[in-house]
Amino acid sequence: MSEILVLYYSRGGSVAKLARQIARGIGEVEGMAARLRTVPPVAATTQVAAPPVPEDGAPYVQASDLAECSGLVLGSPTRFGNMAAPLKHFIDNLGAEWASGTLVGKPAAAFTSTATMHGGQESTLLSMMLPLLHHGCVIVGIPYTEPVLSTTRGGGTPYGASHVSGMQDDPQPSEDEALLARALGRRVAQVAAKLA
Ligand SMILES: Cc1cc2nc3c(=O)[nH]c(=O)nc-3n(C[C@H](O)[C@H](O)[C@H](O)COP(=O)(O)O)c2cc1C
Repeated sequence: MSEILVLYYSRGGSVAKLARQIARGIGEVEGMAARLRTVPPVAATTQVAAPPVPEDGAPYVQASDLAECSGLVLGSPTRFGNMAAPLKHFIDNLGAEWASGTLVGKPAAAFTSTATMHGGQESTLLSMMLPLLHHGCVIVGIPYTEPVLSTTRGGGTPYGASHVSGMQDDPQPSEDEALLARALGRRVAQVAAKLA
């Protein structure tokens, strides 16, 4: 069984729910399974260590997860049009993996959630792709052969999966958003299987 790492940060649950849909899509590809992992929060003014295991949800990611998985899907809520600091903090500590080429040639994709429709989904997705390119990943998006991409009234973009949580911050993806998230997971898994 080959695994795809679905690595995300989520505070309110929107990105976490999208991660589960992406994991479902990965599991639909024969011989592929998802490995769900998250990153600890960061604090600017303390050095209190995060507990080794999160209270709920996915376990914290380890460097070995990157080495062991055959693909990677990165998820983060939008923070002023960019990825959130906890995910960026994790990525900024991947110097050894960059030097040793741990991710070179592996397929990778991105997903996000915003409160507002035009609040920066695409810029956030692109911001996650920049470090993935430095690490030598093969970037995977969602092609327009997914018909829902042309009709969605919420999230779902060619740059990656997404959800619009609205001003009430509803974490539940719409049917279209969930379908496109599964399609992205499936596609990363299919590309990983072909590249293996
Ligand atoms: C500091 C901060 C900055 C944010 N910046 C944006 C933004 O630029 N555009 C937007 O639409 N939503 C923004 N949001 C809202 C979150 O992206 C949105 O609520 C998202 O669905 C949360 O995902 P989560 O439930 O996985 O944490 C921001 C939220 C916070 C706390």
